[in-house]
Amino acid sequence: MTSGWSIYIIVLTVGNILALTWLLWWTSRRPAGESAELETTGHVWDGIEEYNNPLPRWWLILFYLTIVFAFVYLALYPGLGRFEGVLGWTQITQYDAESARISERQREAFAKFQDKDLLALAADHEATEIGSRIFANNCAVCHGADGRGAPGFPNLADDDWLYGGGPEQVLASVRHGRNGIMPPLGAVLGEQGVAQVAAYVYQLNGRETDPAMSAMVADGERIFGMQCAACHGVDGKGNQMLGAPNLTDDVWLHGGSFEMIKRTVRDGRMGQMPAHENLLSEDQIRLVTAYVLSLSQRETR
Ligand code: HEC
Ligand code: HEC
Repeated sequence: MTSGWSIYIIVLTVGNILALTWLLWWTSRRPAGESAELETTGHVWDGIEEYNNPLPRWWLILFYLTIVFAFVYLALYPGLGRFEGVLGWTQITQYDAESARISERQREAFAKFQDKDLLALAADHEATEIGSRIFANNCAVCHGADGRGAPGFPNLADDDWLYGGGPEQVLASVRHGRNGIMPPLGAVLGEQGVAQVAAYVYQLNGRETDPAMSAMVADGERIFGMQCAACHGVDGKGNQMLGAPNLTDDVWLHGGSFEMIKRTVRDGRMGQMPAHENLLSEDQIRLVTAYVLSLSQRETR
């Protein structure tokens, strides 16, 4: 704010309050010598006349008190242009003080979890309780409230992992994020090649194929060896270093119908798990990781 505006605001504010004070004083005077007479405003309605009496004293005193309050407030807090107030209060200092207080309390609450390893935390009810709240606030939008995922967002409650389900792998997924890149191969393979390799993938987990698909499987296998095995493995069981899914089980990230497999191969897929190292504290990352580990343990137990 320039000092011109600052002065303008100060003059306007103080001037207004002073003008109101004067108005109050002026209207509260009793006209001299007429105190016994009842003066009316001249308004009459249905036989009722309106008296022109001064405001009651208690009401006036309250009014004057609000004016005193206004001046005290404007002296203590920022309100007059650039004047910062005697207390030096700002929203930012208040926010900083409050968030420092909260992180301090969190550090104390989390301290007892610090030297437990992740698997011990996953078995600790109190830790997974806190972890589940962190999950609800930060992860559930993508992975679902129960962690069971949705198309494109992996199920974290089963025992099937793109990047590995050990404590270190899950911790790394949460901390650094993940980027699964399935390249679009439609242009390389042509529509016929896409259908052939999709037919081959379709029957990898033991499903029956109709005659039209069966006729394509052999060509599909050849294409798979050349174009897909580098990432998904010769046997199609996937590669956790790359996040390439196992194609021989019945768990599908993007969908396992013939049409969905064709679409995945033709157009490619990009799964993005955001890194959380700058969004959550180290303690929070460990607790939410423990919660994720507890989900799949519960499932397999
Ligand atoms: C913006 C959506 C989004 C949010 C928010 C998100 N994730 Fe993910 N997450 C994904 C996607 C998408 C993948 C799969 C990445 C891929 O396809 O390569 C993934 C993958 C993962 C994996 C690896 C799964 C595997 O099978 O190896 C873990 C573990 C995980 N997320 C945990 C979490 C946790 C814990 C949180 C909260 C702190 C979280 N995610 C928040 C979208 C999200
Ligand atoms: C560069 C490595 C790479 C190559 C080459 C590759 N893929 Fe993938 N594929 C991936 C990754 C990574 C994903 C997971 C994408 C994600 O995280 O969203 C994936 C996902 C898929 C899926 C989805 C699986 C599901 O659970 O929904 C199918 C199907 C698939 N690939 C088939 C193929 C076929 C067929 C080929 C060869 C024509 C191929 N891929 C070539 C890396 C690769």
